[in-house]
Amino acid sequence: MLSLSHLHKTYSGPAQRAILQDVSLELVPGDFIAIVGDSGCGKSTLLNLIAGLDLPDSGSVRLQNREITALDDNTRTRIRRRDIGFVFQAFLLLPYLTVLDNAALTLKLNGITHREAQHKAQAALSAVGLSELIHRFPGTLSGGESQRVAVARALAHEPKLVLADEPTGNLDTESADVVLQLLRDRVKAQRSIGILVTHSSDAAATADRIYRLHRGTLHAA
Ligand SMILES: Nc1ncnc2c1ncn2[C@@H]1O[C@H](COP(=O)(O)OP(=O)(O)O)[C@@H](O)[C@H]1O
Ligand SMILES: [Mg+2]
Repeated sequence: MLSLSHLHKTYSGPAQRAILQDVSLELVPGDFIAIVGDSGCGKSTLLNLIAGLDLPDSGSVRLQNREITALDDNTRTRIRRRDIGFVFQAFLLLPYLTVLDNAALTLKLNGITHREAQHKAQAALSAVGLSELIHRFPGTLSGGESQRVAVARALAHEPKLVLADEPTGNLDTESADVVLQLLRDRVKAQRSIGILVTHSSDAAATADRIYRLHRGTLHAA
């Protein structure tokens, strides 16, 4: 289960502004929720805190009874690799690895054998409709194709928590439907937890519940 408790976050700098002010949320296995909100309201900031990529000023993130926010950098990285799948808004594919190796990367970092990692990565790529492109390099892909590789990479290691930051922002309606259905199906089948950040009300409507992030706080929408 995932528990966010009284998260506060302000970025330091000249125009200091509290981005998150008292965000709390409890999710249980099988939950697939959407977070919506205006551009710049702090959605990506919140996902970064949940993934332990950044730390809050105060408050805590607990995943499966481990307080992520109390762990050191290395331990957070290890937990992220094993238990979290993150679809980054900017994809963050590695340019010098093929599509297949990008999708297999987390599995390999987790110590899975080369063969099994390739097998699982191939299955994830096939699920997003990219079987034909596995030997290409990211530089040769369209935005939509890159986004689907990012989704495959986030799902290939069957994480307990999937964080998807605008995962359909570059997709046409048909591919968006495939990706949203896949995210939802995986969460339900594996009893993981899925958090979908999106601008699209159609995308948000595929979630069990919708929350709105507004002026630093999260409300049921
Ligand atoms: N590392 C950072 N340093 C300073 N300000 C930041 C940083 N990251 C994001 N911000 C600011 O925090 C606000 C929220 O950003 P973000 O979480 O990316 O919003 P969203 O994902 O909802 O569009 C924005 O005003 C953004 O400019
Ligand atoms: Mg964002």
